[in-house]
Amino acid sequence: MKTLVFATNNKHKLDEVRKIASDLVNIVSLEEIGCHDDIPETSDTLEGNALQKALYIKEHYGFDCFADDTGLEVEALDNAPGVYSARYAGPGHDSEANMTKLLKEMDNIENRKARFRTAIALILNGKEHLFEGIVNGRITKEKRGTSGFGYDPIFVPDNYTQTFAEMGNDIKNTISHRAEAVKKLSAFLSTLSE
Ligand code: IMP
Repeated sequence: MKTLVFATNNKHKLDEVRKIASDLVNIVSLEEIGCHDDIPETSDTLEGNALQKALYIKEHYGFDCFADDTGLEVEALDNAPGVYSARYAGPGHDSEANMTKLLKEMDNIENRKARFRTAIALILNGKEHLFEGIVNGRITKEKRGTSGFGYDPIFVPDNYTQTFAEMGNDIKNTISHRAEAVKKLSAFLSTLSE
């Protein structure tokens, strides 16, 4: 089975992606290849950051690799925080502070439409490939639920009433932005192994 490095140290993401793609590909984390580097993410697009991370691993460690970058795009805020979602409330990557800031920004805003968007960049056999996943939904007025991570407690996907953090990972992982992008990655990988 092909081995691919997933350029992340986020255990939630690793679990999510392994559940979807583990019968096609052996997914190895950064920790497992001994990479503890602070990988640069300096692009102003999700695709650019995903590619930057995957190329960094290929260049410095030699492995074929994929990397993801995700942003929460809020319609009424001109798609902010978007590519800056992790650092929305400051450089500390503090999810509680990020959610509190976003809820405050949206205090008097009626249009709660938002979407999570994930870009995955794959470097395989010297070629670059991009995959995108989107889930549409809306921002709640308060935090609800305890599972998941990041902005999960304030995001309700379309056709659901619970936030990602209330519905739990089993449901989230079938409908999420990352699941959509990983399914596209898996479909691509499965055509290679035929
Ligand atoms: P990144 O993909 O790690 O760069 O994530 C960017 C920001 O979006 C961080 O603040 C994450 O916590 C948040 N984020 C990424 N994926 C999810 C998700 O599935 N649910 C909620 N927040 C997420």
